[in-house]
Amino acid sequence: MADQYVNRRMVLAARPVGLPADSDFEFIEQVVEPLAPGMVLVEVNTLSIDAFIRTVLDEGSYHQSVKLGGTVTALGVGRVLESMVPQLVPGDYVFGPLGAQTFASLPATTLRKLDTSVVAPSAYLGALGMTTGLTAYFGIFEVGAVKPGDNVVVSGAAGAVGSVAGQLARIAGASTVIGIAGGPHKAAFLVDELGFDFAIDYKNEDVSARLREVAPKGVNVMFDNVGGDILDAVLEQIAQGARIVICGAMSQYGQMQHVSGPRNYLKLAERHSRMEGFAVTHFGSRFGEAEQALGGWLGDGRLVVREHIEHGLDSFPATLRMLFTGGHHGKLLLSVS
Ligand SMILES: NC(=O)c1ccc[n+]([C@@H]2O[C@H](COP(=O)([O-])OP(=O)(O)OC[C@H]3O[C@@H](n4cnc5c(N)ncnc54)[C@H](OP(=O)(O)O)[C@@H]3O)[C@@H](O)[C@H]2O)c1
Repeated sequence: MADQYVNRRMVLAARPVGLPADSDFEFIEQVVEPLAPGMVLVEVNTLSIDAFIRTVLDEGSYHQSVKLGGTVTALGVGRVLESMVPQLVPGDYVFGPLGAQTFASLPATTLRKLDTSVVAPSAYLGALGMTTGLTAYFGIFEVGAVKPGDNVVVSGAAGAVGSVAGQLARIAGASTVIGIAGGPHKAAFLVDELGFDFAIDYKNEDVSARLREVAPKGVNVMFDNVGGDILDAVLEQIAQGARIVICGAMSQYGQMQHVSGPRNYLKLAERHSRMEGFAVTHFGSRFGEAEQALGGWLGDGRLVVREHIEHGLDSFPATLRMLFTGGHHGKLLLSVS
């Protein structure tokens, strides 16, 4: 019976200013209601801690904003406990918009059944995840159109999307892959563990000077996750016909009413280059193709995705802050059960 479960959920108590504070959230416990037709009860296993979560805490978000008092949005994987539809049965693992809570009652139409015979459920949030592997795949192969011989720069390179994007650039035939990340540990991670050619530690090095050193002929593709000064530094160094992929802008998400655009955008005109943004959902009809390709590279060891797992729903606010303070390597996940 569904009513034996008590759901603990995290709701938005106040709209954050800058970095989300613990006091912006509240935790509520409620007995799970019996399921209506078409619904499924899922025990939430692991949540994907994504940058878009910060943006939906603001009013007027591109992704649907969370209402005050509403459960905070999050994608996740979990195990079916009860189901009112024949295509999902107890024990199945599913992916969907589970939210920041321990038990999710959702329409079956919002859930995808996972094949966990080859990879762990968490891989559907990381390597094969829409907001990680798939985002990197379409950014590198479609928007950036990386081709053999390109010099590719990735910002936010030691994070989830960035770490995959750099490795995919190599698979696409890039001659030089340069990652920009904060701190010596992340720089070493990029070069020693992920096989980037060069890492620039933007917290301790002059990004413009290092780029001139490691990409003297210019940058052909920039996969940008952070915006701000780092994007400007790379624009100074682009080659003729460069492609700047706007995947995200970590440096701007705490101040969405006052986003700072690139100072150096005229370099695009001088060097016949283009800047193009995308949302992974624009490529929804091709997710199967991307998943198959990523799964193959994961299987043959050409793609490595490190997971950083925090524990407990109550750690959600601190884990979300970690995205902005940079305390993780690779894919940031929160284990809930
Ligand atoms: N277009 C799409 O459809 C799509 C889908 C998913 C994600 N994204 C975007 O992809 C980007 C990365 O997301 P993710 O989930 O993979 O996060 P992540 O890279 O795992 O974590 C974010 C990283 O950004 C860096 N960072 C934070 N604030 C910064 C600042 N002010 N300046 C420079 N670097 C900063 C931190 O690394 P350091 O320690 O190196 O500073 C942090 O590790 C985000 O911009 C996100 O919005 C886009």
